[in-house]
Amino acid sequence: MSAIEAIKGTRDILPEEVGYWQWIEATARSILGKAAYTEIRTPIFEQTDLFARGIGEATDVVGKEMYTFIDKGDRSVTLRPEGTAGVVRAYIENGLHVKGSLQRLWYTGPMFRYENVQAGRQRQFHQLGCEVIGSADPRADVEVIALAIDILTALGLTNLRMDLNSVGSPTDRQQYRAALVDYLTPYKDELDPDSQNRLNRNPMRILDSKNANTQKIVQDAPKIWSYLAPESQKRFEQVQQQLTDLGIAYTLNPCLVRGLDYYTHTAFEVLAETGLGAQNAVCGGGRYDGLISELGGAETPAVGWAMGLERILLLLQQLAPAPSLKLDFYIVSRGDKAEAQALQLAQKLRRVGFAVELDLSASAFGKQFKRADRSGAAACLILGDDEAASNTVQLKWLKTGEQSALTQPDLLAQTETWRQQITSLAERDS
Ligand code: HAM
Repeated sequence: MSAIEAIKGTRDILPEEVGYWQWIEATARSILGKAAYTEIRTPIFEQTDLFARGIGEATDVVGKEMYTFIDKGDRSVTLRPEGTAGVVRAYIENGLHVKGSLQRLWYTGPMFRYENVQAGRQRQFHQLGCEVIGSADPRADVEVIALAIDILTALGLTNLRMDLNSVGSPTDRQQYRAALVDYLTPYKDELDPDSQNRLNRNPMRILDSKNANTQKIVQDAPKIWSYLAPESQKRFEQVQQQLTDLGIAYTLNPCLVRGLDYYTHTAFEVLAETGLGAQNAVCGGGRYDGLISELGGAETPAVGWAMGLERILLLLQQLAPAPSLKLDFYIVSRGDKAEAQALQLAQKLRRVGFAVELDLSASAFGKQFKRADRSGAAACLILGDDEAASNTVQLKWLKTGEQSALTQPDLLAQTETWRQQITSLAERDS
């Protein structure tokens, strides 16, 4: 029988890689936690309408990429292509606005988009995102951006660039769209087919076309900045000033239009300058002041972002090996009595806080020692018939080869000594 394979565009996260995932999550959890963000977990599938209304029918995500199906109750449901719409639905449905005027939320989990698969682009991928719901203050925009940069920096990622734009208010955009369509229409036949399709449906997306000829035409297109009302212009300048005050570098990019329709005013993307190829956006977000009312809630301003964890992982893999659990002790044993004592010793040492791996193979000592060496543990504990009979144990420091015999009660009594020794060995190593 042939083996069943994972679905195209999905991948397994194997134990050798999971250390990166845990590290990314722990870093984000700590940084966001210190800024008073709390985690929210929403369902992986939702009513299709939520995304159609929230993200916009004219977007690629809704038009082409959603995993939508009819369930057994005849409802149209969709695997979430992103996190914001679900968070906003939860915010409205659970009346979170009553629980405090401002909600600072973060989330992580799998998202689903039926896209062409390539390096850094999958059909099931993972995002970690945050949303501030209930503040129109430009400082909220800057806070979320600063936290994204802090997370990426804490992970050791450099060589990143941030693109910043304002996509204005819906009114600003309406006027701009008209001007853009006026400018592009005479060039219609020269645009790439995708852009021709977008000319009436979603003309602003033409601005970030990757087609060289379209890009040339777009270069001289009117810029959204000339269509920002004074209020929109002012808030754009405030965001820039506050970013500068915080020492956060950015590049103004009038062609940055995000792929989802809900954005207003601030839009930004963090891009990797090297290491990712074409799919180089590691984080994208912005303000979405119209989404909450669009989804049936009260008019509520909001801003947020999401990072693509697979892309961050690809960058981390180029920098450092996966962080792994550091073992303190590896226990080898042979003989019935010794093996029984070894199991007990492992449990007792774990309960006082040591990381302990017990060799369960019952194979020859030589083979067990080889595994101990490979385990990365600081020390090996050895129990054979003699040790079992005298209730002792051999303690061997694997780096130095230093070995001594001691009683099992002494081993368990001197935990502080072992801890210090393990720490000083680790410090010598790094
Ligand atoms: P997005 O730009 O569509 O924004 O996605 C955010 C990030 O998810 C991207 O920058 C990228 O790193 C990653 N990503 C997107 N699609 C894929 C894929 N097929 N494979 C791998 N990674 C991918 C949003 O989703 C918004 N909800 C962000 C947001 C939150 N805006 C406001 N609040």
